[in-house]
Amino acid sequence: MIILGVESTAHTFGVGIVSHTKKVLANVKDSYTSSLHGMIPEEIVQHHLRVADGVLARALEQASVTWAGVDFIAYSAGPGIDPVLWTGHRIVTGWAKKYGKKLVGVNHCCAHLSVGMMVNSLRDPCYLYVSGVNTQVIVQGKKKYVVMGETLDIGLGNMLDKFGRIVGLGFPAGPQIEQLALKGKYVELPYVVKGMDVSFSGILTRIEQLYKSGKATVDDLCFSVQETCFAMVAEVVERAMAHTGKKELLLIGGVAANKRFAVMLERMCQDRGARFTVVPMDLAGDQGAMIAWEGYLRRKTYGDIEVNPQWRADEV
Ligand code: ATP
Ligand code: FE2
Repeated sequence: MIILGVESTAHTFGVGIVSHTKKVLANVKDSYTSSLHGMIPEEIVQHHLRVADGVLARALEQASVTWAGVDFIAYSAGPGIDPVLWTGHRIVTGWAKKYGKKLVGVNHCCAHLSVGMMVNSLRDPCYLYVSGVNTQVIVQGKKKYVVMGETLDIGLGNMLDKFGRIVGLGFPAGPQIEQLALKGKYVELPYVVKGMDVSFSGILTRIEQLYKSGKATVDDLCFSVQETCFAMVAEVVERAMAHTGKKELLLIGGVAANKRFAVMLERMCQDRGARFTVVPMDLAGDQGAMIAWEGYLRRKTYGDIEVNPQWRADEV
């Protein structure tokens, strides 16, 4: 079986083609970026409409398949930015009608988790899902995923991006923050862990004060925001693993690209005698292959479900 997966929840428009034997045949994406500001939904919509056909053509070419060889189309139905989701839905509806394919709407967060399991041979991991919007510690329950801890306000990636905007780093800011942090030293920031949850907005306010008053350099703030926020998240993950007895940790989402974060989590796992795995870079951020694989897994449960901007992983 060959599944064509389409990602369109936020700044990335992607088309991935995957076989039921776990082979990624193609994974092409085009992401909206901006050097001046964060994500503006209307600009993202225009971006996705502009690149969709080109991304599709490149994916089909990369996979050496034609529409005749595609069994169905999986698409990201949520969570995400409302107009961007509807744009994605409009695009896949057009392709589905034109080529006579069935649509399977999937949850974008679950797709991140599933593709991590697809490429790593893990038994029953604790998932740490850290992207722009999401910061969640998740385990598999009897029927559904269970969110054991999460952010009470914004996601870790969005926090880094907002911080980047304050100090003029452009979007997305995560990669630059990681580089600048190498030159920085520690300044104290609030450390906000509440039970099993974390909160980032107070840290952002403090960073803004420090930056505007000239009390800390951008390098120092980059270093300190990483040390503080990564430690907060690592603490919650460790508690979740201790509580559930999980011996595997799988790091997922765009922030998983950060090497410092991986080092901290790896050390925590080593101390606990647990195995630490990261989703390979090309499958860590938003892309279509994960949507295709999740579509394959849920093909009997979901069809064209339109979009659901608030759809949580524990509701699937
Ligand atoms: P979701 O819809 O699942 O929340 P997303 O749309 O936010 O996903 P992802 O590609 O999963 O997209 O993650 C993007 C985030 O990852 C951005 O906030 C970006 O700043 C962050 N990021 C990317 N690279 C790094 C890095 N090296 N260090 C820290 N953060 C990073
Ligand atoms: Fe994502």
